[in-house]
Amino acid sequence: MRRKLAAGNWKMNGGSVELGEIRTLMGRAATRQTDMLICPPATLIDRMRALLGDAPMAVGGQDCHTATSGAHTGDISAAMLVDAGASHVIIGHSERRQDHGETDATVRAKTTAAWNAGLIAVICIGETLQERENGQTLDVIGAQLSGSIPDEMTPATTVIAYEPVWAIGTGLTPSLEQIAEVHDFIRDQLGARFADGADGVRLLYGGSVKPSNAADIFAVSNVDGALVGGASLKAADFGAIIDAL
Ligand code: G3P
Repeated sequence: MRRKLAAGNWKMNGGSVELGEIRTLMGRAATRQTDMLICPPATLIDRMRALLGDAPMAVGGQDCHTATSGAHTGDISAAMLVDAGASHVIIGHSERRQDHGETDATVRAKTTAAWNAGLIAVICIGETLQERENGQTLDVIGAQLSGSIPDEMTPATTVIAYEPVWAIGTGLTPSLEQIAEVHDFIRDQLGARFADGADGVRLLYGGSVKPSNAADIFAVSNVDGALVGGASLKAADFGAIIDAL
């Protein structure tokens, strides 16, 4: 049985003021059977971890470099995220793929770096609108899966987030049938490549998840939780999404 995971990706949002929002979620974390993860900007990771104390909420980064250290101005290594208090890191988000030209090979190398530092990698994949309209969705997802995930994957070190690019921040979501089709496909692909190790890997859906659609999405086959952007910035909304899990 896979534990559900509610993950929030604050993206490039949030400072000292927004950090306080997290307090209202701490009580929920203690009473739920759901795992919770917040990925704030790197500048807030250590303060968020300190604020959360022993509360069972994980804190993660939004990216890491492939190298452990060195002359890479502006970058952050996986070991630095761990040092700041992170236990997870998002890798290969479509905004990184678009804004920074990250390829499946980059994602694969960053995932290995994350694992080597002891982080759980939340690997993102998803098709563009054009790819969906061209009927290429499953081909794209299949290629991203095989290109982005290293051979050493285990359920303990890896979470996969399906985020259709066209659903991110748009208010649009795929139909429940479309979500099921992709999540079932991902599960099958992982099973074919990793045998029984794949069954424990959690598959998150991401893209315009909000309190009003969360319960329906969470009821879909092979959806083990959500990676939430905009709605994770408001504790009331994120709390409602957690409650729907
Ligand atoms: O990583 C989360 C994400 O890209 C979805 O963003 O704002 O559509 O929930 P949003």
